[in-house]
Amino acid sequence: MPVLFVPRERLPGERRLATTPDAVRRMARLGLEVAVERGAGEHAHLSDDALAEAGARLVDGPAPPDDCRLVARVAPPTVEEVELLAEGTTLLSFVAPHRNRETVEALARRRITTLAMELVPRISRAQSMDALSSQASIAGYRSVVVAAYHLDKHFPLFMTAAGTIRPANVVVLGAGVAGLQAVATAKRLGAVVHVSDIREAARQEVASLGGKFIEVPDAEDATAEGGYAKEVGEDFLTRQRQVLTEHLAEANAVITTAQVPGRPAPRLVTAEMVDAMRPGGVVVDLAAADGGNCELTDVDRVVEHGGVRVLPGHDLPSQMPGEASALYARNIAAFCELLVDDGALVVDRDDEVVAGAMLTADGEIVHEPTATMLGGDA
Ligand code: NAI
Repeated sequence: MPVLFVPRERLPGERRLATTPDAVRRMARLGLEVAVERGAGEHAHLSDDALAEAGARLVDGPAPPDDCRLVARVAPPTVEEVELLAEGTTLLSFVAPHRNRETVEALARRRITTLAMELVPRISRAQSMDALSSQASIAGYRSVVVAAYHLDKHFPLFMTAAGTIRPANVVVLGAGVAGLQAVATAKRLGAVVHVSDIREAARQEVASLGGKFIEVPDAEDATAEGGYAKEVGEDFLTRQRQVLTEHLAEANAVITTAQVPGRPAPRLVTAEMVDAMRPGGVVVDLAAADGGNCELTDVDRVVEHGGVRVLPGHDLPSQMPGEASALYARNIAAFCELLVDDGALVVDRDDEVVAGAMLTADGEIVHEPTATMLGGDA
């Protein structure tokens, strides 16, 4: 029976785990044994006992057991963690290739077959494996909860005997999976929500959630292949920032989620725009890990600027480790269904999902955009 190893996550702040007791049971039905490093689920409220009861084998880490050729993890491995994998191992993990050149090179060198969770194609058949979306949904929800916690103001209209308090104004930048979840959550809490995006399809989605779309003069639909956004020019960004300046001046909370795949996050919020915000306001920047949508964002700390707090939002899913792990583990389990055939591990390169997610194999970087970016062999 093939064995899937799930190590403890060692990246500081990473609290999620790539499996759960439910996922262990699902893997067993597939014909996969799950080996979990002892103590790995501690931060996600997943005890060794619960995992063992579901059928997991508890092992000492950090190296995979000798009989294991399949590994699932959440955070990109370090080079040292890659060195622990036996040659020919198949790895399921987020890799963030654009930020982790040395890891990608080590994966290729070590002849690891890497199936990068962020590269899973966004096609209907692969929705159950779409970890970007499952984690972005959590991030979007959590961003609003975090903003509400830090904000010196109610979100809803509040009527008291002492008078009426106006609802909060929330601005959401980027209406992808995370942004739309933020809009929905802020609306549920009673805020007035304005939203900016550059894809035409976003307008309708924002309206259906009760958000108001922010119009930028002479905007063109910036939708690329697959429904993603394509990068817009500096000329457009200047006009967009002008319009956003007015909206931010009225905003109590700003949630920024704008991204363009493979590119640095667009800089949409300048220090001057934050200066103009109401004191006591909050910015939560979900694009923090890719450079940030806000000029003031610092991934390592909360920045206080003129009475406004700017928070990095790159680790929001990890702040809800139980549910984030549950969804991620389901994404991993769904992917494993593609990899196990008749009790054997089979990485079928003709499968569109497997081929799309494949980052390294046979000693090479096989994902062309990554190979080009890193100057390797495609
Ligand atoms: P993302 O995280 O890459 O980007 C977030 C949002 O930022 C996008 O809506 C993008 O248009 C927006 N953005 C980029 N530059 C901007 C700017 N200058 N100003 C304002 N907004 C800006 O996006 P995510 O959440 O991964 O998904 C984007 C799209 O991908 C979806 O709306 C959908 O079309 C497609 N998708 C398809 C799925 C499927 O299974 N078929 C699943 C998830 C997403």
